[in-house]
Amino acid sequence: MKQKAKEENPINTKSLNSDQTWSPLSWSEKPIKQLPPYPDTADLERTYNELKSLPPLITSWEIEALKSKLADVSQGKGFLLQGGDCAETFDACTAPKIVNMLKVMLQMSFILVHEMGTPIVRVGRIAGQYAKPRSKDSEIIDGVEMLNYRGDLINSFEPNKEARTPDPQRLIMAYEKAALTLNFLRALADEGFADLQHPEQWELDFMQNNEYYKDYEAMVNSINKAINFMETITPNSFNTLHKVDIYTSHEALNLYYDSAQTRQVPRKPGFFNLSGHMVWLGNRTKQLDGAHVEYLSGIKNPIGIKVGPPFDMDETMSIIDKLNPNHEAGKIVLITRMGTDEVEKSLPKFIQKIKHSGHPVVWSCDPMHGNTFATESNVKTRRFNDILEEIKSTFAVHRTEGSYLGGVHLELTGDNVTECVGGANGLNEAGLGTNYETYCDPRLNYEQSLEMAFLVAKEWNKSYRS
Ligand code: PEP
Ligand code: CO
Repeated sequence: MKQKAKEENPINTKSLNSDQTWSPLSWSEKPIKQLPPYPDTADLERTYNELKSLPPLITSWEIEALKSKLADVSQGKGFLLQGGDCAETFDACTAPKIVNMLKVMLQMSFILVHEMGTPIVRVGRIAGQYAKPRSKDSEIIDGVEMLNYRGDLINSFEPNKEARTPDPQRLIMAYEKAALTLNFLRALADEGFADLQHPEQWELDFMQNNEYYKDYEAMVNSINKAINFMETITPNSFNTLHKVDIYTSHEALNLYYDSAQTRQVPRKPGFFNLSGHMVWLGNRTKQLDGAHVEYLSGIKNPIGIKVGPPFDMDETMSIIDKLNPNHEAGKIVLITRMGTDEVEKSLPKFIQKIKHSGHPVVWSCDPMHGNTFATESNVKTRRFNDILEEIKSTFAVHRTEGSYLGGVHLELTGDNVTECVGGANGLNEAGLGTNYETYCDPRLNYEQSLEMAFLVAKEWNKSYRS
């Protein structure tokens, strides 16, 4: 589907000055992919204006703080852990799910800090990750053709034509769910999450089958000792460690959602997307002259760019120039998602081009999206070993090229789902049906995520431990 957004966009852009080339809505003059038209344009306009008037979810200074941490990462000082659901759903906005997500992200970052001795920047795919790109516009269910599900921000998963029609009210519903999620996340991150720092509370028995169990056990004992020691000698200052930073991110896909929350703030130049700290450009909306790049070129937030096949290296370089013309550090996170077989073919040349351009990027590896396949019984899954292989070969290429791989981007959950095969708990294809929850891509479960954190730290140490 390639069409001029102008033709389908009811929102009046005439109010722009003619000499002003960018505004939160200037994207609507450009061709857009992955956003089906809303049939009820009056409702869209009303809803857009309502969302525009609602208070921001986050603040500009939080965005600046994240950017400054990412600037450190771009210089080799720190590591970015970005993770969460492929797509959040409105129904999954519940206390246990949010607690479990924070728990797994914190425990993974504990493992990374302990094993790597470098600051970890935590960014969730959370509180706004409600829209999905799809490879096909429509599907046929029971003989009826209907639009594909594109995430709760756009339409409903329910298989009927009406439910699948893009509904503007979902922009407000998504904002509300994001606000509820963020509110609880902030409260948890501020206080009362001490228990999760105690590795004796972690559920680690599954690791016994892993060849690294001894190392893993030693690490857990050592984290334990350090925490007990600090609690004994400085209980008050340890308390301050209970406050943790976790930032939010989502794919800037439904540009109505993002642009309605893109604002100017007092005494600062420019526009901030106040719906999430970091947003990313998906692999399928990465067109230099397209709507998504246009929108992202005007905001101050750190921006992730997914880079994977099929991709045109020169076009990607031009996109980076357009999104970060001043070479600001901490602004661009290049998230490579090549697929295990493609890393050695494409990544070296890309790293060389970036080096030559002088762009101070954070390099991150998404080992999930290039490694998805369907089983014989048509269940979408990923192999733990393929994911690990992409991480390993991405580290190896960066090591050879003398560049710094400063992050990973994972689809994961704190719940005990059965969506990816492999890992120390030995989940196989026959077991996928036990607790397969995702509507979109398969995620690492709690155990697989902790194990992956441990293995990522091992790879990082091979490359960068002096
Ligand atoms: C995603 O991150 O969920 C996604 C769809 O990724 P990509 O754009 O890299 O395919
Ligand atoms: Co995904």
